Amino acid sequence: MRIGILTGGGDCPGLNAVIRAVVRATEADHGGQVVGFHDGWRGVLDDRWEALSVARCRGILPRGGTILGTSRDQPYSRPGGAAMVAEAIARHQLEAIVAIGGEGTMGVAGDLHRDAIPVIGVPKTIDNDIAGTEMTFGFQTAVQICTDAIDRLHTTAESHDRVLVVEVMGRHVGHIAVWAGLAGGATITLVPEVPFDIQDVADRIVARHHHGKWATIVVVAEGALPVPGSIDVRKPDIDSFGHQILGGIGQLVASEIQERTGIESRTTVLGYVQRGGSPVAFDRVLGTRFGVAAVDAVADRAFGSMVALRADRIVRIPVAEAIGHLKTVDGELLRTGAMFHPPHP
Ligand code: F6P
Repeated sequence: MRIGILTGGGDCPGLNAVIRAVVRATEADHGGQVVGFHDGWRGVLDDRWEALSVARCRGILPRGGTILGTSRDQPYSRPGGAAMVAEAIARHQLEAIVAIGGEGTMGVAGDLHRDAIPVIGVPKTIDNDIAGTEMTFGFQTAVQICTDAIDRLHTTAESHDRVLVVEVMGRHVGHIAVWAGLAGGATITLVPEVPFDIQDVADRIVARHHHGKWATIVVVAEGALPVPGSIDVRKPDIDSFGHQILGGIGQLVASEIQERTGIESRTTVLGYVQRGGSPVAFDRVLGTRFGVAAVDAVADRAFGSMVALRADRIVRIPVAEAIGHLKTVDGELLRTGAMFHPPHP
């Protein structure tokens, strides 16, 4: 058996765990070989690759990032791109390509499957926004990084009796924000799923400050938006892949809070720190489980499927079920998070 593998989209801790598991399972279970394409789909189209082996993967389990590199390039953005993928599969005599990536990469996998090109999807993103799987690797590491940062911000906020606003990633959903807000004991957490009323936020903070000198930590998801018309929000730029370039809502919220409450407010944007460094144990294990399951899917010729986590079991679903809509934060978590917001005065 010969399998191709690539990592596409934003990087995250845990990618190397998947690569290592795919190589181990292919060699151990099937005596096969793995071709690792560099920089996502770009490496498939430009035929840039390396032979992967168990020896090559030694020591990569705890390393963040991806030894193969990644990009947001997509075959269908090039004339004849899908045919070039098929040619690469034939040239390297591959059974299939295991594509590890986020919503965009899963979308490409669905299109290639429709065009009868053998692909298996492995869901990846710190955002945890991919439908069909309860969790993606990278998410728990990002939550831990944010929680550690919030723990630190509590002490400086208390010392200065300030409001500290923490902007976290997550694109258009609030999974990172809700989990890190709960774990870090945030005062208020703002997410894209619930447009926020900035005056309500300010009133709650003022009422709280009159009851004592505690830290006020406001966690804001980068995709959070105010109630329409309440404050002017700059329209985000669009990157070359059609994604909105998010960021800046944290500073806006801090400025509005300071102006409406008179309390000193500062902002911390955690940015790419959330995507760097070594994966936590959960993400190493989930990435490993996904990698082994992806090789099983190739062996079973279950092309067009995506491995997924459901009730702590690894299952396979049609990749089509995972694309076209995002997994948003559910009501139970939103209610639990809001439980800890200061009461409205
Ligand atoms: O999808 C993961 C993610 O980190 C998002 O949370 C963030 O908005 C986006 O990628 C940033 O994209 P880029 O790495 O292209 O700047």
